[in-house]
Amino acid sequence: MYNSKIKGLGYFVPDNVVTNDDLSKLMDTNDAWIQERTGIKERRHVIKGEDTTTSMGVKAAKIAIERSGISKDDIDFIVFATLSPDYYFPGPGVLVQRDLGIKTVGALDVRNQCSGFVYAISVADQYIKTGMYKNILVIGSELHSHGLDMTTRGRAVSVIFGDGAGAAVLSRSESTDEGILSTHLHSEGQHAEELSLIAPGMGKRWVTDIIDDNDPNDESYFPYMNGQFVFKNAVVRFSEVIMEGLAENALKPADIDLLVPHQANLRISQFIQKKFGLKDEQVYNNIMSYGNTTAASIPIALTEAWESGKVKSGDLVVLAAFGSGFTWGSVIIRW
Ligand code: UT7
Repeated sequence: MYNSKIKGLGYFVPDNVVTNDDLSKLMDTNDAWIQERTGIKERRHVIKGEDTTTSMGVKAAKIAIERSGISKDDIDFIVFATLSPDYYFPGPGVLVQRDLGIKTVGALDVRNQCSGFVYAISVADQYIKTGMYKNILVIGSELHSHGLDMTTRGRAVSVIFGDGAGAAVLSRSESTDEGILSTHLHSEGQHAEELSLIAPGMGKRWVTDIIDDNDPNDESYFPYMNGQFVFKNAVVRFSEVIMEGLAENALKPADIDLLVPHQANLRISQFIQKKFGLKDEQVYNNIMSYGNTTAASIPIALTEAWESGKVKSGDLVVLAAFGSGFTWGSVIIRW
């Protein structure tokens, strides 16, 4: 039996900083509302033509591969999580294989939105634990800004999301005491439409009686979120799935050295921190600087935490996410 271990981490965010005041010039919003409700001060937006979901993922991946000490030729498999792919199909996994010049290994695209990176890590972990692969490149990347409704109509969603990418190289470890101890995944499709982007899915054909295909203002081309409902579910599911992961490994909240929650809302992170009695230094947040980058938020935050020395050998690191689907999950790591 093998274990998988995160050997290298990297992230990339576009240089273009968009402040809350910048957004207030486009829509009826203001810095005070955004900071009070979400904790976000600014986010990054790709300047059109400069980057794509894939190119950001590739930039993050190059850093992760270099830090892992392996060559791109040693990568056995690619897993790419995003809700904002460059193309409707094919997904960005194959584009990474092409753009990084990796040999013709398998490339899998994960469609689990905010939980995408947690799901992707779980998939990669299973392949390594079974001995099928040794080194897997896992990427979470999002280009939200080109697809948001930047008018007052879309303000409840558009102020929250930002662009960026993070990547990890997962490698085989012979030690079962270190690396990914367990992963825990859940879904509840009953609430699929509560946080969704209906078009351009083929299912849109079923609702053409309420949505006009030719209407440029068709709201189904923009993400929709029932904010308060998602919030209420998020705090419950985050807590449950963290506890599930700890219990599986006979651990308790006080054993956590670092919790890296998906950056959905600073208030959600603070709620979990309080519920588990964690100190500020036990929870890593960066939503203030990047907004919610969906599948990219955990790998960006984890990379930043690692770069600043907050993740040390032997530490218990917990990743947790909740989002559209609904889907949620956790990853328990002994670093
Ligand atoms: O990452 C995936 C998971 N996502 C989440 O977990 C997000 C969960 N939800 C949230 O984070 C919060 O619900 C939001 C940040 C999205 C919204 O915060 P809220 O405290 O739930 O606000 P609300 O939706 O209840 O809206 C309150 C008011 C409304 O006005 P009225 O009806 O009270 O007059 C909104 O129209 O705030 C208004 N509003 C805004 N005002 C200024 C909504 N968006 C904005 C805005 N600027 N950008």
